[in-house]
Amino acid sequence: MRRRDFLAIGGGLIAARSARAAQGRVEVFLEEPIGTISPNLHGHLTEHVGGVIYDGIWVGEDSKIPNIGGIRTALVEAVRRIKPPVVRWPGGCFADSYDWRDGIGPRAQRPRRANFTINHPFMVKAPDGPQKYEPNWFGTNEFMRFCRLIGAQPYLSANLRSLAPQDFYQWVEYCNAPAKLSSLADMRAAQGDREPFGVRFWGVGNESWGCGGDFAPDEYAVEYRRYTTWLPEFGVDLALIASGPDRGDLDWTQRFFAKLTEKGNAMLQRVYGWALHYYCGTSGAGQSIDFTTDDWYSLLAKATVMESMITRHWFAMGEIDTEHRVKLVVDEWGSWHRTGTEVHPAYLLSQVSTMRDALVSALTLDIFHRHADKVAMSNVAQLVNNLHSLFLAREDQFIVTPNYHVFEMYAAHQGGRAVRTLFAAPAHSVREKEEPWTVTGLAGSASLHGKTLVLTAVNTDAVQPLETEIVLRGGVSRSAKVTTLAHPDIHAHNSFSEPNVVQIREEALEARGSTFTYRFPPGSVTKLVLDLGS
Ligand code: AHR
Repeated sequence: MRRRDFLAIGGGLIAARSARAAQGRVEVFLEEPIGTISPNLHGHLTEHVGGVIYDGIWVGEDSKIPNIGGIRTALVEAVRRIKPPVVRWPGGCFADSYDWRDGIGPRAQRPRRANFTINHPFMVKAPDGPQKYEPNWFGTNEFMRFCRLIGAQPYLSANLRSLAPQDFYQWVEYCNAPAKLSSLADMRAAQGDREPFGVRFWGVGNESWGCGGDFAPDEYAVEYRRYTTWLPEFGVDLALIASGPDRGDLDWTQRFFAKLTEKGNAMLQRVYGWALHYYCGTSGAGQSIDFTTDDWYSLLAKATVMESMITRHWFAMGEIDTEHRVKLVVDEWGSWHRTGTEVHPAYLLSQVSTMRDALVSALTLDIFHRHADKVAMSNVAQLVNNLHSLFLAREDQFIVTPNYHVFEMYAAHQGGRAVRTLFAAPAHSVREKEEPWTVTGLAGSASLHGKTLVLTAVNTDAVQPLETEIVLRGGVSRSAKVTTLAHPDIHAHNSFSEPNVVQIREEALEARGSTFTYRFPPGSVTKLVLDLGS
């Protein structure tokens, strides 16, 4: 596609309008529902890698950093504000090296283990500490406490590479068995949690095509059947999530589903979710804060590839799962930049997020909303001190990143009914290492909550505002509020010394009737909340 061509997202092409006043167009079809936007589309990942757990979440009960039973208070308070629905733990790749038994019992007596990243060149140079030698201070009970404090559901990833199915069953029993009726429930009670945790979401391995065991898809399908046979339920509607593809690996999807159902299509009932992992920016997108305008566009273009990842795997799954019982769970996503902006020499994979990453967050969440009928959950990687983080923390310093503000704005979509919406604006095309990348000029999503419409949109133009005509099909706006995340510098980011460089702005908006215009600032994320009256 050429620069300045018109591009439509979420359906057909909208005719280009010659009016100079409105270069962009949004058309909301209020009576064309897609599905309910599950709050779980706004989930998180917290892994024992680098500084995510120590010192991102866990600072210890004796720390001078304000904490609630060892958990960083500032984090708890900030996360609560974005209504986190679900948190995945303990990995990532760490999950397939983790024995849950190491993380229970008196904290001082728990074993120390080499973290799975110990051979990583970054970690070889890193100072010794809990990031290198896992002290197991933060185990199952501590994680459950964290979830309770922030009001999120737990999503546990079980070890399929280096533990047996029995260990998985017993972890389920430790978490979910009724009080007093099993020795594992007694062990849980001895840690202060008499009542069962009622964990519903369980990952069966992680990246089983790679760090999770280097399986072939049909081998993994056989293991999956074995690990999920006669799992104890304890009255919980267990939602098992299978380790899905790396990006666009359709072969992994097709062969897993084919092998799984060799024992009959009833096997599909064992799979709640098919985990897709997709990171943008892994090759040649520059470093996280030092990038060109072309890098801006190429990263945003790569972020929007998520849409075709979802639809392509969805169709591949449908070849066997014809009723689409199994939904997609995008349990790792975000920008993955080159090294160089780490918070600390031991905080592997930590990076500074800029406005560019905020737009990646918004473009991606909007894609999930537009595919609310296909995607059941997503978990951005990762909550704090990692790749596409919402927070950075170092001892008593703590800040929110631009990504945080997107999650804060987008929480308004949770539980709404996604409605079909078309977005059109001149696209932007660049070349990166001879490869062409095109990103739409405007993208977004819309959801209805009774008589309130939440419309979010991203103007990807790094320089120009976008005058846009917004048309509501089937309703009229009576009054509106707008929230904007924008900054004149596309590299803008928050830091420990300047924590409020990137902030959101809220104001009332004169937007009445079924058609009105709005000027989206350059490189911005916008939320319009429209009261549609009665
Ligand atoms: O999120 C960082 C790592 O990326 C995870 O451990 C792994 O699952 C993925 O490759």
